[in-house]
Amino acid sequence: MINEYVRLLKARNWMKKNQPFLYSWHAYVGFELDLFSQFRSWKTVKEVASSRNLQEELLLRWVEVGLSIRHLKKKGKDKIKTASKFSLPSTPKNPRSTGIILKEMMELHIPTLLSYPELLRSNKKNTFDHEEHGPTVARTSSLLEQLALPRLMKTIKKNKMERIIDIGCGEGGYLSRISQKFPQAKLAGIEINEEVADSARTNCKDIPNIKIVTADVHEYSPDQQADLIMVNNLLHYIQPEDRKQLLSRLKRWLSRKGSITIITPILHSKKGEEFSSVFNSFFSAFENLYPTPTEEDIHQIAKELKLKVKTFKPVITEGGWYFIQLSNR
Ligand SMILES: C[S@@+](CC[C@H](N)C(=O)[O-])C[C@H]1O[C@@H](n2cnc3c(N)ncnc32)[C@H](O)[C@@H]1O
Repeated sequence: MINEYVRLLKARNWMKKNQPFLYSWHAYVGFELDLFSQFRSWKTVKEVASSRNLQEELLLRWVEVGLSIRHLKKKGKDKIKTASKFSLPSTPKNPRSTGIILKEMMELHIPTLLSYPELLRSNKKNTFDHEEHGPTVARTSSLLEQLALPRLMKTIKKNKMERIIDIGCGEGGYLSRISQKFPQAKLAGIEINEEVADSARTNCKDIPNIKIVTADVHEYSPDQQADLIMVNNLLHYIQPEDRKQLLSRLKRWLSRKGSITIITPILHSKKGEEFSSVFNSFFSAFENLYPTPTEEDIHQIAKELKLKVKTFKPVITEGGWYFIQLSNR
């Protein structure tokens, strides 16, 4: 009898623990099909299904979940409207919509984590498709900018840095924000993915002091020294055994007062270990993505390259993301 009771309690517990998934799933579907915009004014399920050419029965089920978790509200017998919820993602037409994080989680992270039993059994790994996922990943990374920028701005100001290179610059968010604050600075972004580099060029097109180069950092050399080289959310693309060599190359590009700054989740981080460990479970599921460094790895590389670890501080405590500054002196 007790055993039956415990069994039930455990099952209930897992169901409850999984409840937050409902919110993410519902918001993801709404974002992907732009349904929250469709229901911006009172509409019936039938109207939206027919105007968007969607399966009416499944749309009705999605609406029912939305009503139960209050993403949607109802008037009369069948009129539905999006609730004015601050947490809901805006339309996918908005390049800054937070829905992009749902897309990455649902289309990339969760399927990969679910494939763990199969991967473990088969001794195989997935291959990360940079072409396919590059634009989404570059966009989700940029969500961190807001938190990391104050530290970067402070470093640039304090050290009067004028020539700045961003390695794996994504869509150029860091560069454009830095140029707004430091219009005299000369900025360059190096980005391997052509589509992402094109977006960076479009985003920075009115800023003459930013140059975006489509290149692999391993094959690029700058035409002059840099005061700051940023390596933001890039290390998981670089094999652990190649990181020292890469940083050693970057060091050679630095001016005397120059620094390399790194933003990355830290493996076995003191803060936010749950998140950084699952992030690393994700990276390790791919043959061409790699676990992020530990704090000791960074100190070891810095020591071997005679770089000083000036800063090692969390930027997103709950995510295990750190801001690191390695300087020439
Ligand atoms: C996760 S995104 C981060 C973008 C941006 N740095 C940020 O933090 O928001 C990493 C970017 O590095 C680029 N990248 C990866 N390997 C690279 C390489 N070897 N050379 C240049 N860029 C690279 C990817 O295409 C991707 O856009």
